[in-house]
Parts: sequence; C-alpha cells; structure tokens
Amino acid sequence: MTTLIVVGAQWGDEGKGKVVDFLASQAQVVARYAGGNNAGHTLVLGARKIVTHLVPSGCAYPGTTCVLGAGMVIDLDVFQAEVAQLQQSGMLLGEELRVSLDAHVILPYHRALDGLREDQAGGGAEKIGTTRRGIGPAYEAKAARRGVRVRDLLDRTRLRARLEHNKLHVDPELLRFGGASVDVEAILASADAWATWLAGKVCDVGALIHRAIVSGQRVLCEGAQGALLDLDHGTYPYVTSSTTLAGGACAGLGIGPTLIDEVWGITKAYTTRVGAGPFPTCDRGAAGELLRSAGDEYGATTGRPRDCGWLDLPALRHAARLNGLTGLCITKLDVLAALPEVQVCTHYADGAEPGEVELGAVTPVYESVPGWGAADLRSGIMAARRLEDLPAPARAYLDRVESAIGVPIALVSVGPDREQTILTRAAFS
Ligand code: IMP
Repeated sequence: MTTLIVVGAQWGDEGKGKVVDFLASQAQVVARYAGGNNAGHTLVLGARKIVTHLVPSGCAYPGTTCVLGAGMVIDLDVFQAEVAQLQQSGMLLGEELRVSLDAHVILPYHRALDGLREDQAGGGAEKIGTTRRGIGPAYEAKAARRGVRVRDLLDRTRLRARLEHNKLHVDPELLRFGGASVDVEAILASADAWATWLAGKVCDVGALIHRAIVSGQRVLCEGAQGALLDLDHGTYPYVTSSTTLAGGACAGLGIGPTLIDEVWGITKAYTTRVGAGPFPTCDRGAAGELLRSAGDEYGATTGRPRDCGWLDLPALRHAARLNGLTGLCITKLDVLAALPEVQVCTHYADGAEPGEVELGAVTPVYESVPGWGAADLRSGIMAARRLEDLPAPARAYLDRVESAIGVPIALVSVGPDREQTILTRAAFS
C-alpha cells in the first residue's frame, strides 16, 4: 500500500497527464485535489489522443476510482461534456467518478469576470494571462466565504440565497466592465440539471480515500499546474489561485499528511511557461523556436504557444524542496535531441536563490551540455526502455540533473506514448 502524490515541478505542462496515466495502471484510486479546467492533461493511447481538464488521468482504466477533491473548482458544463466524450471513447462507464460535496463550482459570472479583467488589463502589468476559465474568481468567492459548493447545488433554497448574495457583490464589477449582470434564474435552471447529473457521484471524498488507504489500496494524487504557479510560493502575482504543491493534496482531498508515502515531481528536460510572469531561462531565439516546434509546445487548454527555454536547476531545486520530492520524473528528454547545443542553468548570478530573490530579478548562468545534435539521437532516446539503453549524452544529462537536484530519478519519458517510459523506481509497494 502506498499513497503517492505526483506534482508539476515547473510552471505546469510538464506531462502530468502521461505520467499519471502510466502510473494509474497500478492504482485503485486516482484523485485530483486542486485547480479546475485551467489544467489540460494529455493522454496518448495508441492512435488516440485524449485531453482531460477535470477528470483525473486515471480514467483510461475501467474500475479505477477517479476522484475530484474539495480543493478543486468545477465548471459543471465542462465536466459533463468531458465525461460524455470519455464515455463515447468507452471510459467511465461504471461507477468510477466521485466528486467532493465540498468542491466549489465555477459559475458563468466567474468565467465572465476572468475574461473581462484580462481584457481590461490590456498589455499592462495587471494582466496575468489566465486561461479565462473563471478559476481566480471562483477561488476568490471561496476565500470570501460566499462560494457555491457542489453540496449547495442540492439545496435550491440555499443556492438561491447564495446566488442573490453573490449578485450584489459581482454585478457592479461586471457592469463596470461592460458585462451582463448575474442571471440567478438561469443559473438555478442549470443547477437543477447539474444536481440530477451529479446524483450518485457525490460523497465525502476524504472519507472515501481514507477508507481506501487503510484497506491497503494504492492511491495516486494528481497535482495540477506546477510549483512555480503556486499561490503562496510561485511567481506571484503571475500564479494560479490554488495550492499546486504536494502539501495541497492533504487539504484538497481531506486526508492527513501522515498518510502520504511518496512525492514525485515532474519536470520537462527543458522549461516552458504560458501566460505572463518571469521566466529566467526563456530563450526567444532559435533554440526556443526549435524547442517549441520539436516539443509541440502549445497549450492543451487554450492552444496558446508556450515560451520555451533551458532547464533551470535552481528553480527545480526550489520546487524539490517545496514539495519534499522523493522522486524526479523527467519528461520530453527526446525533444532536446532537436537542438545542436543544449544548455542548462546551473545557478543565478551573485548567488541569488529563488525564494530569496524574485525570479524576475535573477540572471541565469549557463553551462553547455556536450554531445547533443547527432541526427540519430532522438530515435535512440525514443527507443530506450531502460536507462542503460539511452545514448550517452542523454544519460549524462540525466545524471547531471539528478546530482544537481539531489533527488533520485524515478521515471523518464522518452515520447508521448505510454510505452515510451522508463520506470527506474517502484511507484507503489
Ligand atoms: P488561471 O489558473 O487560469 O487563473 O491562470 C493563471 C496562470 O496560470 C496563467 O499564467 C496561466 O497560463 C497559468 N496556468 C493555469 N493553468 C495552467 C496549466 O495547466 N498549465 C500551464 N499554465 C497554467
């Protein structure tokens, strides 16, 4: 029995979908604990490519319980459409889905506010470059103690009162930015349909996961976004509105920290970021372009091109400490083979450390990594199924990263397919 948390160790988009899908074959429960449909987790299953935004990446395994925790914010229209699409692909046909009664609901006015604020910000410093899915406004309402929870959808009188209360707060801002005021009746009508659809899927997921763990089941907790987008420890204010760190799994699911055994952090072999905010190792030249095209670096949720650059070891060390990582998963190693020369940021100038100095103010110092750029390197990397199969430059790169971070490599991904994965440590006992 093991409870394993898998988190992003950069700015999101590290390949959590693929890694969680791979590991989920060994788990009985896969649980998401934070964020909402700002996430886009891509699973490649043979010729099929599936992108999930809300459903945990364990959905490809019939009978595996897929949990949406209390720390999430759920857009029920998106959730229903996603589940319908997965069911058409033969998934989630049983009783796999379990949704926390305490998860918060993203409502149309949250989406509207998110978009209107981004539009108002124009190109100014206030623009976060959000996914415009209503994530921030829904978490704001939660913190202000006027959010709507899944359980509120099941009580029409309470829901109406909540919505009227929220209308008073958000209408002035909506109208000031040229939006429409909150339509309480329309939301109530949608809520009836959501409540019917949710019947049989909702429960106290903390109790469910606790039961699973004490009865010896393997539980996989799936983080969303990445360490540097964390509300408390990321590149604030250019962050998401939830806890993206491993610590958030306990609060977001309703289980205690003593139940967690392992925490694996995922990093790409390079770095990407989408949205506004600092990115010290961003490369706006030819190398960045090559990484974007070879790595197909376009947002799974919004389609936006991602900024690309070199692996940032100080930032990764910071993420490893924030999460208490016990294993490192390195994805997209094959993509580096597209580059004639690979660099890695070993430290920041003047001894600057993330956490002490804001990342917008650091100057990365690079080292060139020898041996990249051979024509057959990528195919050699993609064909590897054990560390020993990897071409020498790729192995040397992994050794370099592992010793710089001080966390053992647990998994290496050498291509988008499930089988293009090298597992070097047991995920579950
Ligand atoms: P929000 O989460 O939509 O409020 O967006 C806040 C910031 O987080 C923006 O910079 C987004 O681009 C970024 N973000 C949110 N979700 C993801 C993700 O899943 N991957 C990468 N970036 C994300």
